[in-house]
Amino acid sequence: MAEPKENPLMEKIVSLCKRRGFIFQSSEIYGGINGFWDYGPLGAELKRNVKELWWNTMTRQRDDVVGLEATIIMHPHIWKASGHVDTFADMMRECPLTKKRVRADQVEEQSGTAISFVGCVSKQTLDSILVVLQPTEQDDAGRNALVKWATHIVTTESMPLEQQKALAEKIMSETKGDVKKAANVVLQMHVTQMLRDNSCREPFAVLLAAGKPPESARKIAAEFYGARGINEPILLGEQAAKVENSPDFHPESRVRLGDPRPFNLMYKTQNGPVESDENVVYLRPETAQAIFAQFKNVLDSSRVKVPFGIAQIGKAFRNEVTPRNFTFRSREFEQMELEFFIKPDEAVEAISGSVTSASQLATLDPQPNWGWEAWHKYWVEERIKFYEGIGLPRTTLVEYWQKPEELAHYARATVDILFKFPFSKRDAQGELMGEELEGIAARSDFDLSQHERFSGKPMGVFDEELRAAWGKLDDAKKAELAKRYHDARLKYFIKTGVEQAKAEKDAKEDADGLAKGQYIPHVIEPSAGVDRLILALICNAYYEDQMPDEKGKMETRVVMKFHPRVAPIKVAVLPLLKNKPDLVKKALMVRDLLRPHMNVFYDDGGAIGRRYRRQDEIGTPFCVTVDFDTLGEKPELLDTVTLRYRDDGKQDRVKISDLLPRLLEKIR
Ligand code: GAP
Repeated sequence: MAEPKENPLMEKIVSLCKRRGFIFQSSEIYGGINGFWDYGPLGAELKRNVKELWWNTMTRQRDDVVGLEATIIMHPHIWKASGHVDTFADMMRECPLTKKRVRADQVEEQSGTAISFVGCVSKQTLDSILVVLQPTEQDDAGRNALVKWATHIVTTESMPLEQQKALAEKIMSETKGDVKKAANVVLQMHVTQMLRDNSCREPFAVLLAAGKPPESARKIAAEFYGARGINEPILLGEQAAKVENSPDFHPESRVRLGDPRPFNLMYKTQNGPVESDENVVYLRPETAQAIFAQFKNVLDSSRVKVPFGIAQIGKAFRNEVTPRNFTFRSREFEQMELEFFIKPDEAVEAISGSVTSASQLATLDPQPNWGWEAWHKYWVEERIKFYEGIGLPRTTLVEYWQKPEELAHYARATVDILFKFPFSKRDAQGELMGEELEGIAARSDFDLSQHERFSGKPMGVFDEELRAAWGKLDDAKKAELAKRYHDARLKYFIKTGVEQAKAEKDAKEDADGLAKGQYIPHVIEPSAGVDRLILALICNAYYEDQMPDEKGKMETRVVMKFHPRVAPIKVAVLPLLKNKPDLVKKALMVRDLLRPHMNVFYDDGGAIGRRYRRQDEIGTPFCVTVDFDTLGEKPELLDTVTLRYRDDGKQDRVKISDLLPRLLEKIR
């Protein structure tokens, strides 16, 4: 399992996840499969709670967002339109020996002595040439000369056949009458060809750690050339050079990496029984595109109008070059995405007279005069509020505004919400810098425009309010707004490769359409990863503290301080003793009282202190203990239970009849 071994906290977290059934490696009994993870009983509950909270917050508790559940495999043209077929790639480099790949921007820097070779020639070939040539010089010198010859050959371009023939004819004519001379030249050519045919021209280098002899590099090089069909290679052009902090060598094999090449991250498969290029389909690398593709159907079938959003939760697949940091970068994962469609700023201005920019925002209650900047800011705040509401304090989050040079060409602004994971890099002050949990992008009208062009189906909306407002504008305003809209559309068409004349014609049509109340909506996209959020919640919840055991002796306790809203189990119901039927009966009654409203765990095994510890370690926020007082041993305590709080271990005596409202208040 490729885990960050150097991070002791992560090691503890990974180990707890397995021990207590949060997360297991997929296919573990077969040695696992890199980049795939399964959620155990507690992980499944945690994940379900998180997705439900997101869904409720983003759709059910709002009037302006509806849901969608689309297929994973869709028409392949969707991925052409979105740009994923052509550009969804990471630059990666391959170790030519092990074939292992690394992301070009993530190669660990290394130092040492690089031993390099320009290529090799087969020893057998060299020996057989020596037998024919029978060099007059001493054996070694003849051999060395031949090796030099071979080195020259592997580092120079081979002569094309036609040129060789012409040369042979020239030699024959020039050496007429001197057969021996001609034979010599022809023999030279023959030897050259033999060396060419039985050599490898691929350079190879390996980085030796201090103290390692060059012989070990030669062994690795022999293995490399052996795999290219040259058995017993004579290595050519060996050189040694000191190397400092170089990103050019594979971190495991220490072999020099090949040049960076793009590697598309989409998983391909075949649709239907015939394997052919026409039947290629992809496992979706994001859930967002289905939302764009179904935009018109949702609009036409629901009582929504712009501004409104479509939300979706679902699986996504990316053949990541280097899955890493536990579940953080997986190959199969889940996303929670919202596409929130808004009017273009020109339409807002026509209707409201002006557009509120982010810096003028007086309130975060949506207003009719909000343009993309205000909506974008609004969603950043909404999403941060969501994270705080499920237990990630603002201090653990970073709001990172992408720099202009980092933005996708169609994006106007993107904010990444980062969480400070234990494996995040640290800045100069030693502060964790954080890793992306969610991106909130203002994507202009790029996506719907692309689908309109590729599918040939209109993606625009008709806005009666805009049509009416436009009619009341003076001519100067009409001209100004139409020009701005025209210029933005023209820019989009040109950037996406539409030929100039057509781009101008289409942009003019779109600007004319705006005057009639038509436009392609713009979109704000808050896009979050479920698995990353689960990992953030787990990392944030993990604590070790000191608590007294049953005899009052302090001991180290592992406690998962999940927010009660996300905790996999909300309450554990514990009869003090399991061999007292009255206690058990009462405890089961309490369990059944709570069960319809929350996930309850009933545990009657072992000493009560040990049972509390088990619940602490899986993050159960409340334990309810049924004891003899519950049964009326002290009459004034009849039908009361102890309610224990996980974080401080304190206990309250609570009437059974008060239990449900008390707990509901905490977990909702
Ligand atoms: N539709 C936009 C989109 O997909 P993204 O930044 O590529 O944007 C959005 O992905 C979110 O999906 C990320 O912020 C992250 O939480 C999650 N995600 C992306 N790749 C992931 C991976 N390989 N493993 C786990 N989560 C991933």
